[in-house]
Amino acid sequence: MLFENLKIRDVNLKNRVVVSPMCQYSAKDGYVQTHHRTHYGQLAMGGAGLVFIEATGVTPQGRITNGCLGIWDDKQIDGLREITQSVKVLGSIPAIQLGHAGQKASMQRPWHGNGPQTRIDTDRGDIIWEPIAPMDRPLDEGWLKPKRMERIELDEVKNAFVKAAQRSIEAGFEVVEVHMAHGYLLHSFLSPLSNFRDDEYGGTIENRMRFPVEIVKKVREIIGEKVPLFVRISAEDGLDGGWTIKDSVQLCHILKEAGVDVIDCSSGGNSSKGATASGQKRKSGFQVPFAEKIKNEVGIKTQAVGLIRTFDFANSILEEKQADLIALGRQHLFNPFWTNQARELANKNQDFEEWPQQYRWWLSKWKSALDDINEKP
Ligand SMILES: Cc1cc2nc3c(=O)[nH]c(=O)nc-3n(C[C@H](O)[C@H](O)[C@H](O)COP(=O)(O)O)c2cc1C
Repeated sequence: MLFENLKIRDVNLKNRVVVSPMCQYSAKDGYVQTHHRTHYGQLAMGGAGLVFIEATGVTPQGRITNGCLGIWDDKQIDGLREITQSVKVLGSIPAIQLGHAGQKASMQRPWHGNGPQTRIDTDRGDIIWEPIAPMDRPLDEGWLKPKRMERIELDEVKNAFVKAAQRSIEAGFEVVEVHMAHGYLLHSFLSPLSNFRDDEYGGTIENRMRFPVEIVKKVREIIGEKVPLFVRISAEDGLDGGWTIKDSVQLCHILKEAGVDVIDCSSGGNSSKGATASGQKRKSGFQVPFAEKIKNEVGIKTQAVGLIRTFDFANSILEEKQADLIALGRQHLFNPFWTNQARELANKNQDFEEWPQQYRWWLSKWKSALDDINEKP
């Protein structure tokens, strides 16, 4: 099943493998650099049906770090278009994840500490800015105190998502995902641990869902009927008193109604302990049960992610109807050619037909040579 196509709205994915969104922390003032062009092109060449680019800030303030990509200015479209063009030429579908970091904005790049920025960061030339969040409460001791969002900021961010979605289409992205996970802005509205506002955007679950759902509806409207819309959620906080899988099921019914096509099921992150930290113990496919429950209870397509590494395991998740798409993150950093190699190793490849033309002919001759000496690729 992993190599079967999947049509969602007007987009036909050639297989079920997805490159999970992964920040590269390598942008300059939000602009695409050489690293991005090479990195995403290489991943497309590797054979995944859908290549996500990283969480891309809808405002400068919404970036996680100084190195995060941005889509808040029309001038950023050209650089992003270079990525979408190479992903398409190399046989895949380009997707973008639109995000706002909220309480976790203005952090250090992971390799500089993954915590709140300090003098060491500003000495390096990075800047510190004021985050915004549902509450004016820092994520943890030593973290920046965010500004509590008032009506004006809520409207500004909503508008920024709309504009960013519009620019995404102009830049050539064929799939759009709203980032509602990992403790960033929209997740922080959902969770009772980070949102105890006393207006219509806090308190009850209905109120906490209001702002993220309003954004999704606006994004759906602007990208049009032909473009698939994904939402990445943290299916649970994994913390006492936090957002639960039951809450996620309730949210996903509403998201489905709002025109969302796929729920991308991650978890955790609503704390200072790490991008996706939670109390849950990690094992292979630890988030697959979330994808399965939402798929079956809500009747919506889901994307499974998290420590899925082998062809057999990825395929079994699809066979057992636990999810519709399989996203791999770090496995793709380890091996960008994962999909094409998996097909070869599972003996599903017919003469390297999915490999780039420039490699295919040589690889089939190489395979014959290996057969002659009884060796495998
Ligand atoms: C370098 C790196 C950057 C990441 N950046 C993002 C991101 O931009 N957006 C997001 O939703 N998740 C992000 N993640 C999480 C991954 O998309 C994925 O959910 C996680 O790594 C688990 O999958 P894996 O075990 O296959 O790596 C990132 C992970 C890594 C390793």
